[in-house]
Amino acid sequence: MFEQLTIVYHPLIEHKLTIMRDDQTGPKEFRELLKEITLLLTYEATRHIPTYEKEIRTPLVKMHGKMIEDKKVTVVPILRAGLGMVEGVLSLMPNASVGYIGIYRDPDTIQPVEYYSKLPKIDDTTQIFVLDPMLATGVSSSWALKLVKKAGGRQISLMCLIAAPEGVKFIQKNHPDVKIFTAALDERLNDHAYIIPGLGDAGDRLYRTK
Ligand code: URA
Repeated sequence: MFEQLTIVYHPLIEHKLTIMRDDQTGPKEFRELLKEITLLLTYEATRHIPTYEKEIRTPLVKMHGKMIEDKKVTVVPILRAGLGMVEGVLSLMPNASVGYIGIYRDPDTIQPVEYYSKLPKIDDTTQIFVLDPMLATGVSSSWALKLVKKAGGRQISLMCLIAAPEGVKFIQKNHPDVKIFTAALDERLNDHAYIIPGLGDAGDRLYRTK
């Protein structure tokens, strides 16, 4: 049903996500766990990226090893909760570039409003990972994906922590070329567009703003 979606099932991810969902978990642990789960998701989400051969010398012989070009990787967190995922990706690909997109939903029109956008140079060979921990309605992520495409991006994945079926459907309809990676697919959205069971507002829990 969700051809573009990969749910990364792993006991470590499930364990860490359960602690994140728990309302007794404080911001320090929440931030550390988001970073750790993102690192584990990155392992799966980068399975398709190209490698090249490099000749090296081991202490015994010459050989051709495989390398990735992490300078051709760009991560794009959607502000502000996406910031909590950046370090997890960079710990595996330290030379990746980072761009930022800030979007909020106008409460009156319910339309996405872009308030900040700064992307590095990208093209159709750049491996792009858009980061948004909570894929709820999918409106903000879809808008961010549109901006990334407008800047020239073509090889794009969306990494999230928890996805709602509504959000996955929305992205699949509007961006059928984008792969989605998530740690969990939850049940539904409530009337306020929060994911159920979810973990609450990821930005508030990261930065203790409520
Ligand atoms: N954003 C969040 O942080 N949490 C949700 O449940 C939905 C959107």
